[in-house]
Amino acid sequence: MAKMNIIILITIYLMSLIFTAGSTPPEDPIKCTINNTMNCTITNSYGAFPDRRVCRAAEAAYPKTEAELVSIIAAATKQTRRMKAATRFAHSIPKLSCPEGDGGLLISTKYLNRTLAVDAAGMTMTVESGVSLRQVIEEAAKAGLALPYAPYWWGLTVGGLMGTGAHGSSLWGVGSSVHDHVIRIRIVTPATEKEGYATIRTLEQGDSDIKAARVSLGVLGVISQVTFKLEPLFKRSISFVEKNDSDLGDEALRFGFQHEFADIKWFPSQRKVLYRVDDRVSTNASGDGLFDFIGFRARTSLLLAVIRSTEEAQELIGDANGKCASEVVTTTATKVAAYGLTNNGIIFTGYPVIGYQNRMQSSGSCLNSLEDGLITACPWDPRVKGLFFHQTTFSISLTKVKSFIEDVQKLVNLEPKSLCVLGLYDGILMRYVKASTAYLGKQEDSIDFDITYYRSKDPLAPRLYEDILEEIEQMAVFKYGALPHWGKNRNVAFQGVIGKYKSAGEFLKVKQKFDPLGLFSSEWSDQILGLKTGISIVKDGCGLEGLCICSQDAHCAPNKGYFCRAGKVYKDAKVCVKIN
Ligand SMILES: Cc1cc2nc3c(=O)[nH]c(=O)nc-3n(C[C@H](O)[C@H](O)[C@H](O)COP(=O)(O)OP(=O)(O)OC[C@H]3O[C@@H](n4cnc5c(N)ncnc54)[C@H](O)[C@@H]3O)c2cc1C
Ligand SMILES: *[C@@H]1O[C@H](CO)[C@@H](O)[C@H](O)[C@H]1NC(C)=O
Ligand SMILES: *[C@@H]1O[C@H](CO)[C@@H](O)[C@H](O)[C@H]1NC(C)=O
Ligand SMILES: *[C@@H]1O[C@H](CO)[C@@H](O)[C@H](O)[C@H]1NC(C)=O
Ligand SMILES: *[C@@H]1O[C@H](CO)[C@@H](O)[C@H](O)[C@H]1NC(C)=O
Ligand SMILES: *[C@@H]1O[C@H](CO)[C@@H](O)[C@H](O)[C@H]1NC(C)=O
Repeated sequence: MAKMNIIILITIYLMSLIFTAGSTPPEDPIKCTINNTMNCTITNSYGAFPDRRVCRAAEAAYPKTEAELVSIIAAATKQTRRMKAATRFAHSIPKLSCPEGDGGLLISTKYLNRTLAVDAAGMTMTVESGVSLRQVIEEAAKAGLALPYAPYWWGLTVGGLMGTGAHGSSLWGVGSSVHDHVIRIRIVTPATEKEGYATIRTLEQGDSDIKAARVSLGVLGVISQVTFKLEPLFKRSISFVEKNDSDLGDEALRFGFQHEFADIKWFPSQRKVLYRVDDRVSTNASGDGLFDFIGFRARTSLLLAVIRSTEEAQELIGDANGKCASEVVTTTATKVAAYGLTNNGIIFTGYPVIGYQNRMQSSGSCLNSLEDGLITACPWDPRVKGLFFHQTTFSISLTKVKSFIEDVQKLVNLEPKSLCVLGLYDGILMRYVKASTAYLGKQEDSIDFDITYYRSKDPLAPRLYEDILEEIEQMAVFKYGALPHWGKNRNVAFQGVIGKYKSAGEFLKVKQKFDPLGLFSSEWSDQILGLKTGISIVKDGCGLEGLCICSQDAHCAPNKGYFCRAGKVYKDAKVCVKIN
């Protein structure tokens, strides 16, 4: 019976990868009931912020030019109105785009999506801030140029990915954070009455203020234009190599220095590691490979519902074996499908896959297909029954990575099946990031661990092996001093975060200079910047959603057998444990 289900699931999964011609694009995260511009709400692309509350704003504005942006910010500043930049997709999980109070203004960059200048000889490109990563990659390639490192998902906007310090994976050159490849930023900020209430500031490479604007959390104003420093277009050669995880602690350190685009996927309960052996090769190496990553392809709503219902059923009855079987199904199917790689854009014939950078670095085909009435969608589209998850994503300094990995391995030795829960979400993605000069950028060369896992639609429902992931989260953030990704994570990961940035004070000075009234600040941005308390939201069940670290049983789900206890390896952790 169980075996039959697995075979059926693998088959459906593989078929769904083949038959996905269309895809309904995601909805606009901003919705306004009056004239499409007033009485608005904003959410993220998953349809739920960490606290699950609805964010309201009085109005939304859609500037089409920098001049319109200036006049919008001037008018709002004159009225001392709260504002936030918002994007076409709103891919950040935390409440970064939510303006303070109900009377705020959302400034969408949806129509600020033009490429302004490409200088092939100087290898630079200037774009408006609402341009997507996909556009950056495509326009650069047309001029024979490439951004060497980038996030893997091309739906991010330039303004948004700079807002949160988004990155790909590399320890080479200036590293994989996109903001470190930026040489000029034009940002519109509030100003005095004499200056007309808004001003355009041009920040150049070398200016100290650019160190604040590279990772801005959206609190400095609205970035209107960004200039990238690019490289000549090149080719890459990718192979995926599977090994066990016995020596991962040592290997993780070596691997990033051996391969320019190295990354690692770790499946701790299967004791398996997938190494991405990925290097630059000569442009005359033959191959026209394409990486259309499976996790970012459109799936049929039908398959998504089957996968989610299976997962919900496993959660309901605490079926750890079922989770481990699902992990095997998913990892087998994605391996058979070569993770989305093809040697020529059509079929996979074997490793290595060699292709141009613009076809290999990022993908997201679920974003850009035609409307098909939700027959297919991005796997996490909240309009269909699909994936709904938490993300815990943090960077740990290379000097501490080995002991962190070994601590996780100790946990898995104690609870061997516990991390099968990651199987449906592609395991733990480990990517290399370098120290940045940005005030709120990475402080040291690190590995970023990206962990995605089941979130119940019911905030009071505990998860299978709840405690293990909570312990890993607290261990990373408190024992190993990890930096949470600004655009992901649950509240817990942000506790005390600002204390980890040595130049936080410099950032706050620039914020004071650009936006002295704090019009672009909100409760959430003040909390993460250490200006306000309240990152912990203490209430019944808060431990389950990562809104608090539990300190009493009521923060877990005592009626369902989950109690607040110490961690198993990191004894200082307080986690929600199932006690039979
Ligand atoms: C499927 C998926 C894959 C992802 N992959 C990666 C990855 O590979 N690597 C990685 O690092 N991250 C990744 N992320 C996270 C992502 O980098 C961040 O969530 C990113 O900030 C989202 O960009 P966005 O354009 O959607 O911006 P939003 O989430 O809408 O905004 C983010 C912040 O930037 C501010 N902002 C937006 N535009 C401007 C502007 N013009 N001026 C000033 N402030 C602005 C907003 O106010 C907000 O504070 C991924 C997210 C998803 C959903
Ligand atoms: C909505 O738009 C119409 C047409 O532009 C305008 O007449 C009307 O006053 C607007 N409604 C509100 C509430 O502003
Ligand atoms: C304002 O929006 C809310 C939903 O967010 C809706 O319930 C309410 O009716 C709207 N008010 C008006 C006047 O349209
Ligand atoms: C810019 O955005 C608008 C609105 O989403 C869209 O119609 C247009 O095609 C986009 N332009 C580019 C160059 O993508
Ligand atoms: C892991 O693989 C190595 C070889 O790469 C092997 O020597 C070792 O025995 C394996 N460990 C386990 C636990 O299988
Ligand atoms: C192209 O390939 C040849 C040999 O295969 C090599 O000698 C040459 O250097 C390559 N050209 C470039 C630009 O790398």
